[in-house]
Amino acid sequence: MNELRTILKAEAHRLERENAPRMGADPWRMKFHLMPPTGWMNDPNGLCQFHGTYHVFFQYTPYDARGGLKVWGHYSSRDLIRWEYHGVCLTPDSPYDVSGVYSGSALTDGDAMVLYYTGNVKYDGDYDYVESGREGNTIMVTSPDGFQMGDKICVLRPQDYPHDYTCHIRDPKVWKENGQYYMVLGGRKKGDKGAILLYSSADGREWKLEREFSSQEDFGYMWECPDFFCLDGQWIAAFSPQGVGRQETAFQNIYHSGYVMIQSPLAWDSKGESGRMRVLPVERFREWDMGFDFYAPQTFLDEAGRRILVGWIGLPDGDKEYQNPTVERGWQHALTLPREVTRRGKMLCQYPVGELKALRGEEISLEQGQAIVNSGCFDLVVRGKPGKSCRIAIHGGLVFSWRDGMAALELSPELGRGRAVRRAQVESLWEVRILADASVAEIYVNGGETVFTTRYYPDHTAASVSVFWPGSQTNLWTMDGFSIIRR
Ligand code: FRU
Repeated sequence: MNELRTILKAEAHRLERENAPRMGADPWRMKFHLMPPTGWMNDPNGLCQFHGTYHVFFQYTPYDARGGLKVWGHYSSRDLIRWEYHGVCLTPDSPYDVSGVYSGSALTDGDAMVLYYTGNVKYDGDYDYVESGREGNTIMVTSPDGFQMGDKICVLRPQDYPHDYTCHIRDPKVWKENGQYYMVLGGRKKGDKGAILLYSSADGREWKLEREFSSQEDFGYMWECPDFFCLDGQWIAAFSPQGVGRQETAFQNIYHSGYVMIQSPLAWDSKGESGRMRVLPVERFREWDMGFDFYAPQTFLDEAGRRILVGWIGLPDGDKEYQNPTVERGWQHALTLPREVTRRGKMLCQYPVGELKALRGEEISLEQGQAIVNSGCFDLVVRGKPGKSCRIAIHGGLVFSWRDGMAALELSPELGRGRAVRRAQVESLWEVRILADASVAEIYVNGGETVFTTRYYPDHTAASVSVFWPGSQTNLWTMDGFSIIRR
């Protein structure tokens, strides 16, 4: 029996139980987005479907709504609508992960689910924690059923990583192809250059470095949460760079997440590139989401062959203008809806999985473009005529607009708590879908070619909806919440 594990789990359980009435009474808590029962949440981890059941693990600090010691929390579902919460499943309780169970992924391999994650270790002392003072160990845990966790096996230690990296290497994403295992890890090279390491293995335990991926020009100092996958024959390299400079209509948040289309990472020959380094075409990097709150997404392939993405509705190291008012209520952040990723030419689209339509309730008709949704939770679909400008307002102060090739999401000071505007170039507009859930809106533009995700903080539950888009067709449904069973 591991004493530390017992204590950390018991304390989380106590806080979850004790805080449940407070959370239940908070009108800003979401109804159809996954959140932890209390405290802080960040990245989705270990996303997979195993023997029919979807698993969503996540970065979780039940002990403090401002973040801190990371454990993994765990939800599962058969249909992405009815969820079960299984509590804390991995805690920092070994010498390899004592400062936090950081992000990672799940591989479903025959009769086992194998989780890979980063064990964070921070030494006490006078360190910069970049060049020295920390470890990012790669740890493997096998589960027979997705619930019971086997022993932790450390498969890569700091001395196994290349020497021209800082201590920041983490977030293993593992997949299996043609009987071989592959893993990508995000990293910060010495000299502050973001990069991705690609390893291969015959058995999932012994790993060999195959290639590295970075950029020619400056593209941030650290690349977190890499995710390589193939969609319709096209390879995608997705990652979350930190340190890319802000532009008028791109990279508007503190950190970013997006992807580039690449050739097969394994077959990629080294024409013009030296050794194992390959250059990603970062000039074609496309952000997944243009809203105020989105970071560190992960994708997985479900049993129906869909590529599904879930992101974190939040960002680390918050920006100074923004005060998240839920912190003093004892919680912070959520996960996005599961989004199906499809390819449309040179871009990827994200659209809420079809299952979510089962949550649609009553259809509300708009009168002269106006309606009130008492619950504040709805699914709004507006299809219109390209060329005409569009303005959709929720609660009066959350405004999506499009005009002359530019889409914008604006928040009033009351709703935005310091955040004002995010923009994206959208050549022409034909559809806007907004899923609003108490204090989260996900705005899908043109079938998900561009997405804006944001938190907002209304002072009452009922939401006014107003649509101005000449010649458009609107459907508005109330949305029910997920049903969640807590074990
Ligand atoms: C991304 C991230 C990951 C890390 C985790 C720690 O948000 O910083 O790189 O593994 O969060 O919680």
